[in-house]
Amino acid sequence: MAILSTMMKRSSILLLLPAVLVSAQTFQRLGTCPTLGCVIPPDQTDFLAGQHFDIRLEVHAPVNGSEAFNEGVPDDAFTFCIEKVGSKKGCVDAAKFFGVKEPALEKWTFDYFEDLFAQDAGSASVVNVASKAFRGLSLREPGEYLAKLSYYGGMQTVAHWAVPKPVTKRTAKNVIFFIGDGMTQNMITAARLIGHKSINGRYQTLMQMDQMEVLGHQMTHSIDSFITDSANSASALMSGKKCSSGSLNVWGDSTPTPFDDPKMETIAELFKRKRGGPIGMVSTAQIADATPASLCAHTRDRGTYAANVFEYLHSPQDLNSTLAWPTGCGGVDVIFGGGAEQFVAGKGSWEGKDFYQEFAKAGYNVVQNKTQLEGLSGSKKALGIFTVSHLSKWLDRHVYTNNLSGQKNSPTGDGSDATDQPGLKDMTLKAIEILHAQAKKNNTGFFLMSEAASIDKMMHVLDYDRALGELLELDDTIRATIQYLKEIGEEDDTLIVVTADHGHGFDVFGGADTKYLAEQDTDRAKRRAVGIYEQSGLSGYQVVSGSLPNNNTVVFGDQGPNFPVTWNPRYAFAAGFGGTPDHREGYVVNSGGIRQPTAEEEDGFVANPNDQPNGFHASGTLPPSSGQGVHSLTDVSVFANGPGSDAFRGVYNNVDIFFKIANALGLAGGD
Ligand SMILES: *[C@@H]1O[C@H](CO)[C@@H](O)[C@H](O)[C@H]1NC(C)=O
Ligand SMILES: *[C@@H]1O[C@H](CO)[C@@H](O)[C@H](O)[C@H]1NC(C)=O
Ligand SMILES: *[C@@H]1O[C@H](CO)[C@@H](O)[C@H](O)[C@H]1NC(C)=O
Ligand SMILES: *[C@@H]1O[C@H](CO)[C@@H](O)[C@H](O)[C@H]1NC(C)=O
Ligand SMILES: *[C@@H]1O[C@H](CO)[C@@H](O)[C@H](O)[C@H]1NC(C)=O
Ligand SMILES: *[C@@H]1O[C@H](CO)[C@@H](O)[C@H](O)[C@H]1NC(C)=O
Ligand SMILES: [Zn+2]
Repeated sequence: MAILSTMMKRSSILLLLPAVLVSAQTFQRLGTCPTLGCVIPPDQTDFLAGQHFDIRLEVHAPVNGSEAFNEGVPDDAFTFCIEKVGSKKGCVDAAKFFGVKEPALEKWTFDYFEDLFAQDAGSASVVNVASKAFRGLSLREPGEYLAKLSYYGGMQTVAHWAVPKPVTKRTAKNVIFFIGDGMTQNMITAARLIGHKSINGRYQTLMQMDQMEVLGHQMTHSIDSFITDSANSASALMSGKKCSSGSLNVWGDSTPTPFDDPKMETIAELFKRKRGGPIGMVSTAQIADATPASLCAHTRDRGTYAANVFEYLHSPQDLNSTLAWPTGCGGVDVIFGGGAEQFVAGKGSWEGKDFYQEFAKAGYNVVQNKTQLEGLSGSKKALGIFTVSHLSKWLDRHVYTNNLSGQKNSPTGDGSDATDQPGLKDMTLKAIEILHAQAKKNNTGFFLMSEAASIDKMMHVLDYDRALGELLELDDTIRATIQYLKEIGEEDDTLIVVTADHGHGFDVFGGADTKYLAEQDTDRAKRRAVGIYEQSGLSGYQVVSGSLPNNNTVVFGDQGPNFPVTWNPRYAFAAGFGGTPDHREGYVVNSGGIRQPTAEEEDGFVANPNDQPNGFHASGTLPPSSGQGVHSLTDVSVFANGPGSDAFRGVYNNVDIFFKIANALGLAGGD
């Protein structure tokens, strides 16, 4: 499709234009708006037929800086029309086109830095804005649309929108959508290396992900940056729209409040509205965190945790009754995860209310530990919150279990330890049991999102072992899910999709003799312990014969196959990262708890001298203000099983995944 075009008819405006076009490579005035007039939803947006969305129009008049225009007076007489390509009606005034009232004019001012020099100088550019917003619209007819904003007496911004031909026939009754947060193929390969045994280079068992019916891969770019964060990448998956980092199911506008930005309807909202079926969210993160929140929340700032949880129980309309929004999750049927901060009455919860009680009053079973989770029946909706903050990691829950004490993370908020926590598998299987029971009542099918959140969280702190433990737990959960679907007779009706929201630049490049490394005195000598090519050796994680260092090897009796036998072999994998802060590297498991690779000093982060003390110093490549590793550009894999899975072959954009799932569920069309 054509790119956004700005046409000028007045030469006085033409002369000013080059400044507008060359500025703002990495420091943008507004990411969704490269011109002085903004149509949001922006150019290149596709909608599911009947999917709800808002429109925000902005006309900018920068007061100063290189983009200064029209003496800082924004055109408030702008016009906006919609043309359905091929329609004889031409471009129809938007209020008439949608059959709604012309919205009121709004005005405000914001500022931004044009580049690092301006930021250093503390010299922000000021912008005055004239705007209108339409709320809760939809496009029902398939085809291409041109949304045209005309302003400053001759400038025009045209957004090309498209509505693909609706697929209304349902091929899958249920969808289970697994997200390995930050998970790349490199990590899956590393997890296979430590969790599965090979003989002479051939694996004797495989990951469940290796055995899925369909493999594809997806591109993860943001609307306004090539690296994405977990909020906008999850919104791309759930709503089929590109947006800016930090945004959940809204396109970022330039107003100060995060709650009035133009919204988009999510797959969970659509499933509730059109199918009337139950939806579930399971995560090993704080449940208000970006990926679970992407099912229901609409906010420019992913950190509005209390409001995110409010939207699990109510709708955006209840949050601000002046902003019409015809849908909402309105009571997610199953919610399992961490993040008691938003439930215990206090400063983290919406209006300081006790949200355990709010959910109980709305008819939910409420549980706070694994024993209670196991006892849940499918008769009611369920809320399970098992920790303050994110759940403890698989490695600590199963191997270094002493690390569960002293965390003061009980979900009751009473400062005791959460020692009876479920894992992703426990939560996911119970969620399916409850959703299946609920869905049976009206034969609706169900939609479940299950997230292995701490693959990402542990990669950020360069704790590769914990990250891979989480990944193996995800794989084990997928395996158990397929088995459980067979048992309850739903396998043939269930589409399973497994993917990530983005990657991290992690890969394994050799083996490391951790004993030799620890005993050398200089950084350069320590690096001699890294074995490359033929000296990378064989995986030490499965082979338990021979002597083990320090005799502190943990041996699994009860974890069954598909996990390492030991986590601290003498010959460990040597791995590295695409973008890191300064840190120390010794390639040993962090048995004492989650790795803390950096320490903060006045001018930013430095290597933490207490982390991997026997390792060598590795110089960082990131800004000193960054104390963790960061997301990277890589495409990520998509695996699928079941009805509708064929659509997931090939290479496509993250937003296409929403359409593939919606098509399998037959959610397009109608109102
Ligand atoms: C723009 O004006 C504001 C307010 O007068 C001022 O603080 C700022 O430094 C100016 N920015 C530039 C880029 O000149
Ligand atoms: C609701 O949205 C309107 C329009 O953006 C805004 O003026 C108002 O402050 C909002 N109310 C609340 C309670 O956020
Ligand atoms: C689980 O929670 C219930 C209710 O608070 C409590 O009675 C029980 O002792 C807890 N079980 C464990 C193993 O912590
Ligand atoms: C089943 O449908 C009825 C009627 O539409 C509705 O009242 C009820 O809540 C639905 N049950 C479930 C479990 O969704
Ligand atoms: C290693 O530890 C095990 C279990 O604590 C103990 O039985 C064994 O004697 C130890 N072996 C050596 C060589 O210290
Ligand atoms: C974590 O667990 C390991 C082994 O169980 C133990 O050696 C270590 O002291 C624990 N760390 C903390 C902070 O409890
Ligand atoms: Zn993420």
